[in-house]
Amino acid sequence: MDRVAEIADLVTVALDELLPRADGPESRLTEAMRYAALGPGKRLRPFFALEAANLFDIEERPVLRAACALECVHAYSLVHDDLPCMDDDDVRRGRPTVHKAYDEATAVLAGDALQTAAFDILLHEDTHDDPAVRCELAARLSLASGARGMAGGQMIDLLGVRDDLGGVARMQRLKTGALFTYAFEIPLIIAGAREIHRQALTSFAHDIGLAYQIVDDLLDVEGDEDILGKAANKDAARGKTNFVTLLGVDQARHRVAHLADQARAHLDLFGPDADILKASVDYVLHRRS
Ligand code: IPE
Ligand code: IPE
Ligand code: MG
Ligand code: MG
Ligand code: MG
Repeated sequence: MDRVAEIADLVTVALDELLPRADGPESRLTEAMRYAALGPGKRLRPFFALEAANLFDIEERPVLRAACALECVHAYSLVHDDLPCMDDDDVRRGRPTVHKAYDEATAVLAGDALQTAAFDILLHEDTHDDPAVRCELAARLSLASGARGMAGGQMIDLLGVRDDLGGVARMQRLKTGALFTYAFEIPLIIAGAREIHRQALTSFAHDIGLAYQIVDDLLDVEGDEDILGKAANKDAARGKTNFVTLLGVDQARHRVAHLADQARAHLDLFGPDADILKASVDYVLHRRS
């Protein structure tokens, strides 16, 4: 989809400017951070933030900076997710993972520093004139990333959930859904949006985030490693529990289709302004990488 590619380019250029560079020995760390964040990611969370921002009468600059902060947290989550003590993966975005290209300690530090870089970006005065808006953006990102968000979900993923669809849904909501939801919170916070719009976009985020992770789990079973840019056929072997391991491929696919219909319906109240967001549902769910 052209708009996704356009936003990916915009975000990569902005991230390149925002991420630190260093001259001393710590340049190894800043290089590893840049390697992790500037690689060929789809930039879907920034796409959702910037596209949802078009539903409101707000400037692009604060949304772009906050979307870059979100992408830094996402990049950090992938660096740590790939470590030998977690999913133990050697390939990400078609290239060696950070601990393979550098080493494990550097990967841990690059993840740590990408996370703090996100808050540095959000709290900088260039992000928004109003400090209360900057604080709200930072507070919501910390919630979405921490024990009650992505990191909590990763803990549940590692511990495993047994034969329990409700438990899997909760894990997915935390590990993937929380950062997807934050993408929509960015324009909602900056616009000071009305409750009805807040509810519609939060519901959309919930459905698309869950569907996204189920598609990721389907691609693990059915995907082509060369197109995916990461290893496939690893989740079941690692003893992971997800909708695909519990329901099987066909039922998981049905669930994705149902979530997609439900997601689009949440956007009806925005009328044609939400056409690109609605179209992105199919793009996102029929992806091969
Ligand atoms: C991978 O995220 C991890 C999941 C939450 C499924 P993406 O599929 O968005 O990865 P990139 O950023 O495009 O590499
Ligand atoms: C990772 O989920 C979700 C994160 C919070 C990083 P996965 O472990 O399924 O992601 P991939 O398949 O390695 O991209
Ligand atoms: Mg994982
Ligand atoms: Mg993984
Ligand atoms: Mg996966």
